[in-house]
Amino acid sequence: MSDQLPGKDINVLLAAAVAAPSMHNTQPWRFDVQGHVIDVYLDGSRTLPAEDPTGRAMRIAAGAATFNLRCAAESLGYGTWFGLAPYPSDEPDLLARIVIEPSATQNDELRDLAYQIPYRHTERQPSDTNPIAENVRVELMQAAHAEGAELTWLGDDEIRSVLDLVLDTDLREIHEWQRRAERSHWVGGHRPLDGVPSSALGPRSINYPAAVRDLGTRPNDRLRAERTFEQHPDLAILSTDFDEPSDQVSAGAALERVLLTATRAGVSASFLNQPLEYDDLRPKVQRLTGRPGHAHMIIRFAHSPHHTETGRRPITSLCRTDLVPKVAR
Ligand SMILES: Cc1cc2nc3c(=O)[nH]c(=O)nc-3n(C[C@H](O)[C@H](O)[C@H](O)COP(=O)(O)O)c2cc1C
Repeated sequence: MSDQLPGKDINVLLAAAVAAPSMHNTQPWRFDVQGHVIDVYLDGSRTLPAEDPTGRAMRIAAGAATFNLRCAAESLGYGTWFGLAPYPSDEPDLLARIVIEPSATQNDELRDLAYQIPYRHTERQPSDTNPIAENVRVELMQAAHAEGAELTWLGDDEIRSVLDLVLDTDLREIHEWQRRAERSHWVGGHRPLDGVPSSALGPRSINYPAAVRDLGTRPNDRLRAERTFEQHPDLAILSTDFDEPSDQVSAGAALERVLLTATRAGVSASFLNQPLEYDDLRPKVQRLTGRPGHAHMIIRFAHSPHHTETGRRPITSLCRTDLVPKVAR
């Protein structure tokens, strides 16, 4: 075995990693490739101090990127083993260390999910009226479980409670100019490399509170077309038993496994995470699941035919190795 992963493989691995979702598409990660080891670090220049002061969303995003790396490694014929947030006190920015080695045994499920990575997007469009099929619900719960998390589907009463919490957060935000200023820095307009472009915001909702989060803050984005969103959205909460940094990274891996599994089943997702951005509301969200734990994502699953892409920074600017070919995205 060579001492170093081939440059073309590093390119495939990192392109998959950066396709992961991140709050406001900040892409808060950087990578260090040494031999057959890839370290995933937080990028301290991509923080959201007003909306994500503790870095929870950054760790979730890095966990999702790590999961994509594992899938891509399987698609290239490698096996992986990894540790999440291995040195939380000494190296808090090191969120995952992944060892990528030739392997006789393959994880067919991860290899299959790798093919879904380019097709997964956050879709903020109204859903058709068909509920998510029972077998798909079970499959998504199993996907979360496989990464050490729980996905809990909400009933009608709990969905109403989530929408009430959304209303509550919208009212709070009226007085929080820092959050709105931060969002307008990342959202709206033409954004080829990062942030959420106007084209990805989806229509505004006629009904309120809506099953979709309207991230638009700019005057032009307030003039978007309006559509009616579903009255009975399919909502689920992703949570973990504990809330250490490694649990937040695991939650990100579970999130991405759920999202890729949903993509394969023809189901799209968007997020109503605003209540989870307030420390006093997060436990209320978890209570809706009926079990102890810590809520990380409120996911709305839908059937919507759109494919809304967001940009990514070139991987050459995110990686400490000279082996990434210049053709990288
Ligand atoms: C931790 C986290 C929180 C997010 N919160 C929201 C949210 O509340 N509302 C929303 O519409 N999108 C949310 N997103 C989705 C991001 O905006 C999206 O991943 C990013 O813009 C990149 O787009 P893509 O998912 O289509 O690749 C969140 C993503 C992550 C990882």
